[in-house]
Amino acid sequence: MAGLVETSLDGHVALLRLNRPEARNALSPEMMEELASELERLDPDPDVRCVVIAGSDQVFAAGADIKSMSERSFAEALRHPAASFWRRVAAIKTPLIAAVSGYALGGGCELALACDMIVADAEARFGQPEITLGIIPGGGGTQRLARVLGKQLAMEYVLTGRRFDAEMARKMGLVNKVVKKGKWLQEAMELAHTVAERPPIATRLAKQAVIGAEETALSAGLENERRLYELAMATEDRVEGMKAFLEKREPKFEGR
Ligand code: CAA
Repeated sequence: MAGLVETSLDGHVALLRLNRPEARNALSPEMMEELASELERLDPDPDVRCVVIAGSDQVFAAGADIKSMSERSFAEALRHPAASFWRRVAAIKTPLIAAVSGYALGGGCELALACDMIVADAEARFGQPEITLGIIPGGGGTQRLARVLGKQLAMEYVLTGRRFDAEMARKMGLVNKVVKKGKWLQEAMELAHTVAERPPIATRLAKQAVIGAEETALSAGLENERRLYELAMATEDRVEGMKAFLEKREPKFEGR
């Protein structure tokens, strides 16, 4: 099982690279378990302030593993641990950035959507081709695409299974940044380092607050934001941040 996800640390940024090139990084149950476990291991680590999930130049991830799914009965699918993978990723408090080059299809597109931001290579290709296999997206694709693109466009991509390119993804609001061919990982790491320089308690609270916007009505979301803001006001880092501003110097955040 070891080696399907390769972890490295660069300062306060953890880089997780999907490593199953022979199957185009298809998310096998073993790879999903390894990825979720790695994220859960890193999440409470105070030295990790942002996580980048990446594939290779050729492929981010080609979706769930079709071979493994094809052998699964209906009863097995109901009980399969893969179902909890998506909840486990969604429960991660550390900001997550998807660095996408090549294909992000099916579960691969859903994994990118489950991250908080997406940096894409100009030649990246996204899509939810599940319909062509006789199924529908099962890792959040219908819900997250509809929230990001709106119902009409999500419907088009989910019903046709057609792919869309990085520039289209940016125009539709799915991708934060499209970068020159070959620069995708570098740019994603730069973005991650910028997030990692910010006070880490506040970035986690901010992530929770923004996600709340997708999951609650406005009044509840505003109330949630206020509570999270009050928590941020209780941190030592905010004392430091405000003091540094008034003293016209760079702040030094300690994650307290
Ligand atoms: N599952 C299992 N194996 C896969 C795979 C997948 N999702 N995608 C690719 N592979 C395997 C191929 O079977 C092939 O294996 P062999 O060498 O043993 O034949 C190997 O990876 C290389 O694949 P290709 O020859 O097809 O590579 P390519 O570079 O020509 O094309 C691709 C790349 C466009 C990604 C193409 O492989 C492809 O379309 N893959 C399937 C994409 C897909 O339908 N994804 C949705 C899966 S369902 C899902 O994700 C459900 C969900 O919502 C959770």
